[in-house]
Amino acid sequence: MGQILLKGIVKSYGKELVVKNLDLTVQPDEFLTILGPSGCGKTTTLRMIAGLEEPDQGTIQLGDRVVFSRNDGVVIPPEARGLGLIFQSYALWPHMTVAKNITLALKEQKISKSDIAKRLETALEQVQLTGYAERYPSELSGGQQQRVAVARLIALRPSLLLMDEPLSNLDAKLRTEMRASLKRLHRDLGATTVYVTHDQIEALTLSDRIIIMNEGQIMQQGSPYDIYHHPANIFVAEFIGDPGINLFKGSIANGVLDCGAISIPLPDTLTERSGSLIAGIRPEKISVSETAQAGWQEVRTEILQPTGANTIIEVKVGDTPITLLQSGFMTLPEGTPLWIDFEAEALSFFDIDTQNNLRNEAH
Ligand SMILES: Nc1ncnc2c1ncn2[C@@H]1O[C@H](COP(=O)(O)OP(=O)(O)OP(=O)(O)O)[C@@H](O)[C@H]1O
Ligand SMILES: [Mg+2]
Repeated sequence: MGQILLKGIVKSYGKELVVKNLDLTVQPDEFLTILGPSGCGKTTTLRMIAGLEEPDQGTIQLGDRVVFSRNDGVVIPPEARGLGLIFQSYALWPHMTVAKNITLALKEQKISKSDIAKRLETALEQVQLTGYAERYPSELSGGQQQRVAVARLIALRPSLLLMDEPLSNLDAKLRTEMRASLKRLHRDLGATTVYVTHDQIEALTLSDRIIIMNEGQIMQQGSPYDIYHHPANIFVAEFIGDPGINLFKGSIANGVLDCGAISIPLPDTLTERSGSLIAGIRPEKISVSETAQAGWQEVRTEILQPTGANTIIEVKVGDTPITLLQSGFMTLPEGTPLWIDFEAEALSFFDIDTQNNLRNEAH
């Protein structure tokens, strides 16, 4: 439905500047995720959109309506902003049953009794809590309470949706299932959504667009694909990806990247570069062989972590540690020789001083 527009938002608590001149547009029906480390200002930003915190400066617009403007003295209270909310502390009414908690807002909207009953049933089904309608929050686990909060949104069907870590209290399996539910919910409702998390998997799997935030500032915004494959700077490159990206300090001369123990011939498209830089390559972009291959680099295994479908392999070339990611379940004794080959097209190059991606700076 409507877009969400933030302009020049500044927020501090005492002397601490928590959000620094933030500009942000969420397109109608877009699923936007704000991702960043603990304390970077994600919840504060969401609370300002909701009206639970007042910015020091700036303007917030929901749809066509200005709901906050410091200059014009506009402050619309949260309940009049027409939003659906889930917050980190999922705030269910303790004295109301699950059913009451879910349907309270619907009753205020004059929806028919039979419709409310239907929405309640569907919402409970979607979060796998059928049969829990008459329980009180104190009779539920943390994860179940969180799912009630999600069910409340499913039943409410708001056109603007704000969610702050709605899945943080769930176990891994349930979190994967709930991610799919949220994605389905967004597809069905088409609500303009701002989703806050520090979980990169949630961000990558759910979002149309991701904003990477650090210390109250936007480090990069882009599609999950771009954020993963074309990180704007070293902060984003390291923040996204598990296992993390490999970074090597080195230099390019005559079409070869030389990082001490490692040297990688570059494809024609990259040979115009030269000089010192930091090279980055994701673990899955390095091929691995258990037998010798001509032109491949020999390494020795250190630690292997099979995760089921994949294995994370730590190796060393000289003193340089490298992380590899192979599909399949591998167990090899420490010190086993392996041969690796870098997919040169997948390299990112960063400026040593600014830490910015040189691909972006070249244009
Ligand atoms: N009411 C408050 N009073 C003072 N400082 C606050 C207040 N709320 C938040 N802060 C500070 O503002 C900064 C940003 O907090 P915020 O809750 O927005 O972080 P976050 O990105 O949501 O982190 P997390 O991932 O841990 O939830 C933190 O340094 C925090 O200590
Ligand atoms: Mg938070």
